[in-house]
Amino acid sequence: MEIVICSSTQQVGDVAAARVAQVCRAAGPNAVLGVATGSSPLSCYTGLAERVRSGSLDLSRASAFALDEYVGLPRGHEESYAEVIRRTVTEPLGLDPARVHTPDGFADDLEAACADYERRIAGAGGVDVQILGVGANGHIGFNEPSSSLSSRTRIKTLTDRTREDNRRFFAELDDVPRHCLTQGLGTIMDARAVVLIAQGGGKARAIRNLVEGPITAMCPGSVLQFHRYATVVIDDAAAAELQHADYYRETYAHKPSWQRFEN
Ligand code: GLP
Repeated sequence: MEIVICSSTQQVGDVAAARVAQVCRAAGPNAVLGVATGSSPLSCYTGLAERVRSGSLDLSRASAFALDEYVGLPRGHEESYAEVIRRTVTEPLGLDPARVHTPDGFADDLEAACADYERRIAGAGGVDVQILGVGANGHIGFNEPSSSLSSRTRIKTLTDRTREDNRRFFAELDDVPRHCLTQGLGTIMDARAVVLIAQGGGKARAIRNLVEGPITAMCPGSVLQFHRYATVVIDDAAAAELQHADYYRETYAHKPSWQRFEN
């Protein structure tokens, strides 16, 4: 796992976008992005959009797969992840909407929708680079604590903590859905590279557990310790509880220029 500790949100976005762009360029014009909702990856999307605008990155033929979707909202609801991804990813990055996918949380047959999503990801050749945030309880996607470390896309029940955290997007807590479809931890682990982004002190405990704690379903993101190409890009506040923060800073500071993600 590579840990990059940054001094500002903008630097977090730049480093994460540079890493994602590096993988996309290597993958070629049909690169497959894994995309996440939430505030954490927004600076990365800004960085990617700048690269697309300047012509240093072409995503016009790229595909994207979102991690998750609520169950229980009407199709087209502005807080449905299909809409959030359209606003924050598809439009700013100039992706072809026909190549951007979210799990169909509006389907009558949700189990079939999950199986179909796995088939669509496989049909696209798998995800080249998965962008991730992390929940305050260590979830990635909507894989709540106790999720199977080898799970695939499926229906999950949101914890009270997650519903409280996401309440800010809805008029009241009762409006926050209780269920969702989410890529499983096994699905996420199949991505060829992973870039996890976190900012702020509210994520410090989750980051400590994810990076330095034991691999456990009680911190679902800790499964990334098994990933060969996982990059964790965080700000100083999110790094505050890391025991080896000095080591990570020194490692990145002395990384040879050809290995850095600063293009
Ligand atoms: C939601 C999403 C996650 C995201 C998390 C953190 O629960 N399903 O994919 O990582 O929120 O969100 P934020 O980045 O806004 O803190």
